[in-house]
Amino acid sequence: MTVITPSAFPISSQTSIADKEVLLKIKQLLGQLPSYTFLEIGSYLGGSMTPFLADANCSKILSIDERERQQPDERGAKYDYSGITHDTMIKNLQSHGFNTEKLEVFDGSISQYPKKGEVYDFIFIDGEHTDWACFRDYIHAEKFFKHDCIVAFHDTNLVYKAIKIINELLAARNAHFKFIKAKDSAMSCLFFNQFASVDLDTLFLAEPDLDKFYLECEAELLLAAARNRITVTKPWRGEAVYSVKDAPLLSQ
Ligand SMILES: C[S@@+](CC[C@H](N)C(=O)[O-])C[C@H]1O[C@@H](n2cnc3c(N)ncnc32)[C@H](O)[C@@H]1O
Repeated sequence: MTVITPSAFPISSQTSIADKEVLLKIKQLLGQLPSYTFLEIGSYLGGSMTPFLADANCSKILSIDERERQQPDERGAKYDYSGITHDTMIKNLQSHGFNTEKLEVFDGSISQYPKKGEVYDFIFIDGEHTDWACFRDYIHAEKFFKHDCIVAFHDTNLVYKAIKIINELLAARNAHFKFIKAKDSAMSCLFFNQFASVDLDTLFLAEPDLDKFYLECEAELLLAAARNRITVTKPWRGEAVYSVKDAPLLSQ
C-alpha cells in the first residue's frame, strides 16, 4: 500500500489524497528505470510535481502552463488562474526547500511549445478542463512521448469524453497500451508498451464499471452546466423559457 506522507506534497495541490496516491504509484513504477523525465501540463502552484522534483531519479521536469487565464471548463464556469505566474510557482517551491535546477517552464499551450526532440517517460495532463483542450494537450504531447511511457489525466470526471476519444484513437491505431481509471480518484492513466505489460492490476485499484462511471460523470456535468449557464423563467401561464447566460467567473 502506498502511504501518503505530507512531506511528499507540502504545497497546496488541486489533487485529492487518492489522486496523490496514484501519482506516488506512478513514481514507484518509474523508479524501475535508471532515470526518468516528467512533462507536466498545468502546474499552478507546483503542488503535484513535488514528489518528482524531490526524486533524484527524475532528471528533468518540463512544466507547461498557459498562465493567468480565465479558464473554460466543462462545468460551464470559468476558473480564474490570474495572479499566479511561473515565478510564483518557482519561489513557492524554493521556499519549501526544493531545488528547482532540473525544472524548465514554458508559459503557453503545448501546441505552441517550440522545442523538438525532447521525450518524456511520464506526462501528466492537468490543464484546461474542457474535452477539446484535453484532447489538444494529449495529441500535441504525443510527439514528446518516449516509446515506453505513462500518461496520466487529472479530473477524468470533467474530461471523460476526451479520454474516451483518446482510447478510441489508440485502439484504432492498434497501439500497445493499457488504460486504467483509478477507483475513487479523479486520475486515469495510459500505460504504453513495456509499461502495459507490468502487473498494473495489483498496483492500481481500477474503476470496476467504466460505463457506469461515465454515465455518472455525464449527469453531474449536465447539472453543473445547467446551474451555471441556464436561466429558467416560468411565466404565470404557459411554458418555461430557457435561456443561456455567459459562463460565470469562479475563483480557485
Ligand atoms: C487544475 S490547475 C493545475 C493543478 C496542479 N496540477 C496541481 O495539482 O496543483 C490547472 C492549470 O492549468 C493551467 N492552464 C490553463 N490553460 C492551460 C493550457 N492551455 N495549457 C496548459 N496549462 C493550462 C492553469 O494556468 C492552471 O495552472
